[in-house]
Amino acid sequence: MGADVRDMFMVHTMMHREFQLLPQLVRDVAEGDTKRAAVVARHAELLCLVLHLHHEGEDVILWPLLLERGGDQALAIVPTMEEQHHGIEAALELVTMLLPGWKATTRNGEALAGAFDVLFDRLLEHMTTEENKILPLAEKLVTAAEWAKLGEHGLSKSPKKDLPLVLGMTMYEGDPEVVGEVLSHAPLMARLIMPLVAPRLYASHARRVHGTATPARVGRR
Ligand SMILES: [Fe+2]
Repeated sequence: MGADVRDMFMVHTMMHREFQLLPQLVRDVAEGDTKRAAVVARHAELLCLVLHLHHEGEDVILWPLLLERGGDQALAIVPTMEEQHHGIEAALELVTMLLPGWKATTRNGEALAGAFDVLFDRLLEHMTTEENKILPLAEKLVTAAEWAKLGEHGLSKSPKKDLPLVLGMTMYEGDPEVVGEVLSHAPLMARLIMPLVAPRLYASHARRVHGTATPARVGRR
């Protein structure tokens, strides 16, 4: 059975929405309001971790499979993907360097917001290229079992306490059918509880971070 890549679109949609909102969230923190900065910083740290693990999984699992099986078609695009990942990792490093100081003092907020602008621009370009060039290849060349390992990579390395919120974030614009497919690999309890708990967790998180339980949808697909 070939890979069902719709879960990748769903994760990209979540990252698109949340990373797009980050620069303004940082800019909106009033000088000296470290309590608010801590809320925004914790949200940003979680997103940065999700992004890092998402790309690490692709580096370790997906690119080697495509290069092994995709011949010239893979050679024509995988190096671009790797280069874009390096650019994104560099932007992530800058953000990670600036975040703790800003969180503690709210100083240098514009530098941090600018770093998030750069990160978002690079991420958006990368996700669009990946959806247009990589996902059609993966559908042809990667099996469903191999594809599932990509998701497992992120799950196995994420702190367990964050998973319900990240799931809720992802479900917010997710097609219920794709959500059901993703959850079908989870243990029974999670399968039963998560559809109820995760969206409520995200709603209260979004209220706290974005000031609304229903932030603007990007509707990527
Ligand atoms: Fe991706």
